[in-house]
Amino acid sequence: MQSVNTRLTSLLGAATPSKLREELLQARASVSDLGNKPLPIGCGFIGWILDSQEEQYKEVVDTAIESGVRAIWVSFGNDLPRWINYIRGSPAYAVHKPLIFAQVTSLEEAIKAVKDWKVDVLVVQGNESGGHGSATAPSTMVLLSEVLAALPKDSAPPVLAAGGIANGTQAAAYLTAGASGAVLGTRFLLTPESPYSDAQKSVLLGATSLQTVRSLAFDDARGTNSWPAGIDGRGIRNKIVGDVETGADAQTLQERFRAAAQAGDPDYLLVWSGQGISLVNDIKPAKVGNI
Ligand SMILES: Cc1cc2nc3c(=O)[nH]c(=O)nc-3n(C[C@H](O)[C@H](O)[C@H](O)COP(=O)(O)O)c2cc1C
Repeated sequence: MQSVNTRLTSLLGAATPSKLREELLQARASVSDLGNKPLPIGCGFIGWILDSQEEQYKEVVDTAIESGVRAIWVSFGNDLPRWINYIRGSPAYAVHKPLIFAQVTSLEEAIKAVKDWKVDVLVVQGNESGGHGSATAPSTMVLLSEVLAALPKDSAPPVLAAGGIANGTQAAAYLTAGASGAVLGTRFLLTPESPYSDAQKSVLLGATSLQTVRSLAFDDARGTNSWPAGIDGRGIRNKIVGDVETGADAQTLQERFRAAAQAGDPDYLLVWSGQGISLVNDIKPAKVGNI
């Protein structure tokens, strides 16, 4: 079994090369005895955001590679192979070669990622997962099993399972099923290190799997609905979802969402969450050995 000891950070829309460089320098300085070795974290890039301002994001991607990150994670784009080729063709890649992770949500995409994109690590994300994902993805165990059955046994990259995993028992079950590792997202929202607010953490602490819902309402409300076809997000059901279900138009939705955010109204709080939230009842540090 190959284990990939890499922390992955997510890079969202507002990144600039200088800000990222500064953050990665700080991260490097915080790890003792690292020298010129790869920085043991990764950067995540969302494909449609890269496509939206291609020239700016090429510089951001170059910065991540130049900074020696251990991994680059790509997901949710209509043209991910172009970005993978961009990374591998970057002059900086000749010096630092980050592992390329691709997160996929279907068997078809998994086969392409392995055979055509030649990713270093494949992440298969099932329907239970928190945050963005495919509205029609099978469950994590079914998708993982389909993908493992379809990939060549001798030459496939490590396959990681993502979605609904919140503890070591579940992770062990996925390893038994043939995964090389497990990806946990929602679990890390309930850590002291997480940037979620106390109000968001408090919603998560009291939530169960049944309160989570896949919807585009969250993105409609905050005006970020440019995801590829079929992608929505799983979060805690709130009044945003209720408003969409009762026919609120986009403008009304955005106005209510903005006003509620200003007023600190918990009924409209946006809280991403996977179904595994039922299994998370405490806030604990993200350090190794704690799940
Ligand atoms: C708050 C949050 C933000 C996320 N952001 C990203 C992202 O930027 N890129 C990405 O590929 N996946 C993202 N994901 C999905 C994770 O990569 C992963 O598939 C998911 O968290 C696994 O399911 P779980 O949350 O049930 O553990 C995010 C998930 C959460 C909960």
